[in-house]
Amino acid sequence: MKRIVLFENIHPSAREVFEAAGYTDIVTYKSALNGEELLDALSGAEIVGIRSRTQLDQNVLLAAPWVQAIGCFCIGTNQVDLNVAAQAGIPVFNAPFSNTRSVAELVLGEAILLLRRIPEKNARVHQGFWDKSADGAYEIRGKTLGIIGYGNIGSQIGTLAEALGMRVLFHDVETKLPLGNTKPFVSLKRLLEQSDIVTLHVPGGERTKNIINEQTLAQMKPGSILINASRGTVVDIDALHAALTSGHLAGAALDVFPVEPKGVNEPLDSPLRGLDNVILTPHIGGSTQESQENIGREVAEKLVLFSRSGATKGAVNFPEVPYVECAGAARILHMHQNVPGAMGALSNVLAESGLNIVGQQLQTRGQLGYAVTDVDAEVSDEVLDKLRVQPGTVRCDRLKGA
Ligand code: NAI
Repeated sequence: MKRIVLFENIHPSAREVFEAAGYTDIVTYKSALNGEELLDALSGAEIVGIRSRTQLDQNVLLAAPWVQAIGCFCIGTNQVDLNVAAQAGIPVFNAPFSNTRSVAELVLGEAILLLRRIPEKNARVHQGFWDKSADGAYEIRGKTLGIIGYGNIGSQIGTLAEALGMRVLFHDVETKLPLGNTKPFVSLKRLLEQSDIVTLHVPGGERTKNIINEQTLAQMKPGSILINASRGTVVDIDALHAALTSGHLAGAALDVFPVEPKGVNEPLDSPLRGLDNVILTPHIGGSTQESQENIGREVAEKLVLFSRSGATKGAVNFPEVPYVECAGAARILHMHQNVPGAMGALSNVLAESGLNIVGQQLQTRGQLGYAVTDVDAEVSDEVLDKLRVQPGTVRCDRLKGA
């Protein structure tokens, strides 16, 4: 039975999934470890679960050759050296969708609060004022929401917004199926001109850097609202500050920033601090109890599936082989250098050993090839050893068939 080691207080939903699949050797740690402590904890671990603070760099990965799969129980995976892991035949999984709903709910909640000028009114009551004016306060019903980036989060927001009675437009660089009555807009300018609320759900990186800038802010409707819970680099903060203080925008909500504080005691350095028509949150769009529970389940399920069938669908660093039921008496997981002859060597060893291939899936990604091969009889240790010493073999394991 495989040993599973989980760090950083991963949600108990993960343990439930492993236990339901029959795994009992599960060791959990409350925090991230490093140095010798981490290496000791990894001893004999075939499946490893981490969150964002455990660093699985080249040294750690090379010192733990028994690790077969890594689960990042979060979204980001840059705490793992993904190339080294791939070259060692270790797929890395994460949970890209588990917090989609949490972000969507926050964005719509903020839209409602800003339309009613609640941040400002809340502050006034705390300061001892009782101003009951309806000036500048609006319902969300009937307003137009412009979504930039109609992916997992953007499309979910569109669906929820329609349920609130909003008109929904979206702009995406790819052609996307519009859900409900949402309208795709090829022109970002036209979307900005028509939207009462604009919300950003694009990836980070150079291609989306400052897509909201002085010029695009000027294209937004006077009195409109901007929300960014995607990546901090997408908005030019000085230009946004100017649009808010001039009164061109009525409000904004930001969950992400070009430079974010590293720790709980470090203040956010931003000109937007202190503006009472701006909601600032510390990158918690996806952070809810439900998302943690979903992440625990989603990643554990991927690890169980890999461990039982070799499926790597959703792996971030590996050729993706989907789940297919084993067609033979045994299954061989063969990770190899993506070079001519690697598959030939696999077939030859199997033929020489009298094993007939009854099913096979091959995928490659960069320098790595991954073949999942079903054969008609049990695979002996000897055959496995022969496969492991073939030139180009990165890793080779065997699973029992159905
Ligand atoms: P996704 O990959 O499903 O969707 C992104 C969409 O943006 C895709 O449809 C893509 O075609 C589109 N896109 C790319 N470049 C574009 C451009 N220049 N203009 C218009 N559309 C463009 O991503 P998902 O899961 O919806 O996440 C969206 C963003 O939210 C990401 O940046 C992610 O990092 C961030 N995020 C933030 C969280 C938080 O806590 N605040 C939590 C989860 C995700």
